[in-house]
Amino acid sequence: MKLKRDNPYLIVLEGIDGSGKTTMAKRLKEYLVNSEYDVILLREPSDSEYGKKIREIAENKSNIPIEEELNYFIMDRKWNVENNILPNLAQNKVIILDRYFFSTACYQGARGLDMEEILKINREFAPEPDYVFIIDVDVKTALSRINKNREKTVKLFEKGDFLKKVRKNYLKLKGKNIYIINGNDKIDNILKNIVRLL
Ligand code: ADP
Ligand code: TYD
Repeated sequence: MKLKRDNPYLIVLEGIDGSGKTTMAKRLKEYLVNSEYDVILLREPSDSEYGKKIREIAENKSNIPIEEELNYFIMDRKWNVENNILPNLAQNKVIILDRYFFSTACYQGARGLDMEEILKINREFAPEPDYVFIIDVDVKTALSRINKNREKTVKLFEKGDFLKKVRKNYLKLKGKNIYIINGNDKIDNILKNIVRLL
């Protein structure tokens, strides 16, 4: 692994709902801790009051205009950058972040907003990650994973046609720190592929 010890790193996991981000975040944390890195796991939406509001929206309990929805994600991210991301990087930790501003570009982009504009707004305040792993799965597989493991009905951001647009947006993202990972693979293989790139 190229990762240096006692160095800050921001590693982001992205992908559509059901792609396996949360599973991989836990597995990667375990792997890095066993390799004696100082690791913290974070997620977005965060636990701020904006994050709570976002979860309500996702549960379909409230219906708000898209600009307001975008604003909640941005406010939540500003809170997370200030209170979690920057302080942990300052302590030379490896942060594994389950979703970041690429989610806003791809999801709110799929709701009709301009992806490039969303990326620009976020990059004005949010640090650029060292690695972005997009776990890519087809929507059918993602939905069957979600439905198999949950009794609740599918949430607002998890409708099939919508997720197809989101997936397409993820595959449009470009950057030298962005890697597409085959999420249809076995969990152990996905971990190996990510570790190889680190
Ligand atoms: P996400 O955080 O991207 O929504 P999760 O990590 O919660 O996805 O995974 C959704 C479900 O799919 C979980 O029940 C998980 O156990 C399962 N899962 C995750 N990755 C894989 C994989 N590579 N193959 C099969 N099932 C998986
Ligand atoms: P998440 O907490 O990952 O959902 P779950 O806990 O059910 O796996 O995220 C909630 C939803 O918010 C998810 O469908 C993706 C969406 N989302 C956006 O639309 N924009 C964003 O910027 C972020 C961070 C998430």
